[in-house]
Amino acid sequence: MSWDEKLIKQAKKIVKLYPQKRSALGPLLHLAQSKDGYISDDSVSVISELVGITEVQVKSVSTFYSMYKQEPTGKYLLSVCKSISCEINNSNSIIDVVKDFTGLNNNETDEEGLFTFEAVECIGACGGAPAIQVNYETVEGLSTENTLNLCEWLKNETPDLVVADELQNKFGGTKSFDWAIADNSGTTGSVPGFQTLNTTKDKK
Ligand code: FES
Repeated sequence: MSWDEKLIKQAKKIVKLYPQKRSALGPLLHLAQSKDGYISDDSVSVISELVGITEVQVKSVSTFYSMYKQEPTGKYLLSVCKSISCEINNSNSIIDVVKDFTGLNNNETDEEGLFTFEAVECIGACGGAPAIQVNYETVEGLSTENTLNLCEWLKNETPDLVVADELQNKFGGTKSFDWAIADNSGTTGSVPGFQTLNTTKDKK
């Protein structure tokens, strides 16, 4: 196995949470993505051994879900929602701004490894449409102007930690609803932040 000891220990802990080992497949793929930013062949092989299914079965699941990436993304994964609520609230223009700024088409990564762009299905922020996620941190109520400001800010500031609340305050507009509590935790890569899986970090 080529995962280091610490990661294997973490993986085995996850496997133990489930009555059947194979049920841990999703969280283990998430763990693999948090390690490399995508699901490498090496991770497929390690996971297959950990849960006792074939590499083909692991690969089938990892390629079925679009949030498991098959190749490295840029430092910032820009996922613009293209589903119905966002579409009727001008998401096409938001997509155009992101494409123009980054020079990328759907599912492309720039040569510097800074941005990956993707147009995605509903990200659960319909009430605050149009919406975008940066490394799965959601910003709602976008305008074209603020989308451009967001892209420029990411390029100039290159923050290691991306925090939804911070982005929302700087670049967002109307939100789906108010959570009423501030959340200063965010993500450090193109993998969703889950406190239980240690993929979030707090902004100091
Ligand atoms: S349709 Fe865009 S967030 Fe739901």
